[in-house]
Amino acid sequence: MALYSEKVMDHFRNPRNVGVIEDADGVGEVGNAKCGDIMKMYLKIEDEIIKDVKFETFGCGSAIASSSMATELIKGKPLSEALELTNKAVAEALDGLPDYKMHCSVLAEEAIKNAIEDYEKKKNDKE
Ligand code: FES
Repeated sequence: MALYSEKVMDHFRNPRNVGVIEDADGVGEVGNAKCGDIMKMYLKIEDEIIKDVKFETFGCGSAIASSSMATELIKGKPLSEALELTNKAVAEALDGLPDYKMHCSVLAEEAIKNAIEDYEKKKNDKE
């Protein structure tokens, strides 16, 4: 059996939503305690809906694939739904990741949560 699913390879080779949103409403950055890799997530939010999302990473192929999939799963969704996204759901959407690569998918989940927290904090500071 191939180590990585077709979907993982597709998202690794052609990652969706890579880049920076200059005027992002929320930015989240996390490091992976296991490998030291870094992930940055940018969100554009309107009426509590994620209008746009982009990511940058120094992570491995699995981190790239899971972030790419995660951005597709949250784009156009309300914040409440994005907050519920788990790394397990991302891995399932990719038709699985090898066990020892599951920690890579945590980066995307945590970066999204951090970016939403950042947005909430900025919103509260304005009020
Ligand atoms: Fe670091 Fe995958 S090995 S994110």
